[in-house]
Amino acid sequence: MGLIDHPLTFIVAGALLSYIVFSRVQLYLNRRNFISQHGCEPCPKRYNKEPILGWDVIKENIVNKNERKMLERNQERFRQMGVNTYLTRMLHMPMITTCEPENIKTILSLRFKDYSFGNRYLAFAPLLGDGIFNSDGEKWQNSRHLLRPNFARDQIADLEAFDRHFKLMLKHIPRDGSTVDLQDLFFKLTIDSATEFLFNHSTDSLRMSEDDTENEDAIFARAFQFAQDDILTRLRWNALNFLRSNKEGEDALKICHTYVDKFVEQAIRERQAEKAAGMPEDDRYIFIKELVKQTDDKERIRSELMNILLAGRDTTASLLSNMFFHLALRPDIWAKLREEVAPLEGRLPTYEELRNMKYLKWCLNESLRTHPVVPGNSRYAVKDTVLPIGGGAEGKAPLFVPKGTIVTYSPYTMHRRTDFYGPDAAEYKPERWENLRPGWEYLPFNGGPRICLGQQYALTEASFVTVRLLQEFSKIESRDPNGGKWQEGLTLTVCSGNGVKVGLTPA
Ligand code: HEM
Repeated sequence: MGLIDHPLTFIVAGALLSYIVFSRVQLYLNRRNFISQHGCEPCPKRYNKEPILGWDVIKENIVNKNERKMLERNQERFRQMGVNTYLTRMLHMPMITTCEPENIKTILSLRFKDYSFGNRYLAFAPLLGDGIFNSDGEKWQNSRHLLRPNFARDQIADLEAFDRHFKLMLKHIPRDGSTVDLQDLFFKLTIDSATEFLFNHSTDSLRMSEDDTENEDAIFARAFQFAQDDILTRLRWNALNFLRSNKEGEDALKICHTYVDKFVEQAIRERQAEKAAGMPEDDRYIFIKELVKQTDDKERIRSELMNILLAGRDTTASLLSNMFFHLALRPDIWAKLREEVAPLEGRLPTYEELRNMKYLKWCLNESLRTHPVVPGNSRYAVKDTVLPIGGGAEGKAPLFVPKGTIVTYSPYTMHRRTDFYGPDAAEYKPERWENLRPGWEYLPFNGGPRICLGQQYALTEASFVTVRLLQEFSKIESRDPNGGKWQEGLTLTVCSGNGVKVGLTPA
């Protein structure tokens, strides 16, 4: 008697089948119950036409990405379908896409525990390990607990340090009005200031000459950029990533880890020596020193530092770049900003003065509205849950979200909704902030328990750099190769695809 016709085989197969049928029926009944309890209705709109893997959407996304029109066309999808929440599919994953503030508030805050980051972990882990930006649940709570006190101080940003880096940046800006790419300089400035803030050692890329490419700091800056871009490639390859050979990526990771480990080990050694000698604590605020006071787990400290460098560097540079792209096109706004900084009479602003510059704040807000630096994001439903809006013919009823669904949300589209911001929502118009008091419909820094920790730091740095440029230059003129039509440069964050080419006139 073979295994196939053995009576035990039938019994085992029968039991297995009954179990599967039973659990399916149970799941169906539980879900039916859940749906009726919450008054959920089906979502009326689906974007993908190919129903199994959603190839049509994948192909469309590739074209949109290559044509640098991903954000614009994502917004167009909502408009075409006439809804703010729709269904789609990406390979094996069901997706809900929304630009509805009530839904976003539910995902990020009201039903925070119903969601995780999903498969983002695998793509980010090689560079970021288990740091704050890449962990969920208890691990994330531990990270947030470790890091939050370091951001809680009112004056987290060191204006003197910013000014040192600013002065180096200034040397790269021609004073004869010839063209310079400010975006390139902003990215150098923010890696220099962020590494000083985090490691107590700056990459000082603004100090280097064009051909000074082989020193340790320059090698790290390149490797970090590569490793960061590689996260995006891993996200795109998704489950098939193991098929990709990636020697350059592995080398970049090694370089990044070795570079940061050196500063971690040094900080731990110094801490131990200070304790042993009973020396008083340094009253200067140094991020890495604060971390080693709380833990001596080297890998953990390295991961957290990497996470914050990733979270804080491109974001602030992109905010500055996106804003200066607009300022260069608007001499009237530049003049108004210069009026605001005039009372300083050329001296450095204090932290308080920066905070009180109302028009500057409007300009920053407006840039983060028209071009939110993190323009899209997603969460993964770890249990059956519900969104308050998106179901039913009118899209106003609650919507059932089965476990395993990815919910993506688009601050970019939400920030351009004319029902919130008026018919001129797509325009850069700082004056609109005179009366705007938005809630969840304005979300550049996310909301809920995972709200950005570095918001204050970023706004202070961006304000400081802007004030200093306003003090140095009376006029700015756009030399954009695309005639001032903003083109998308989308990676994990979004900046201008053509850089920020300008000419500046010294004051
Ligand atoms: C304009 C600048 C910035 C913008 C627009 C921004 C935006 C964001 C957003 C949208 C998130 C949420 C990501 C998610 O949960 O998927 C986030 C998280 C975070 N940001 Fe920022 N960020 C900026 C600058 C910074 C800076 C300068 C730092 C640090 C120095 C920083 C540190 C963090 C950290 C640590 C998190 C993770 C918080 C958590 O998961 O609990 N950010 N940021």
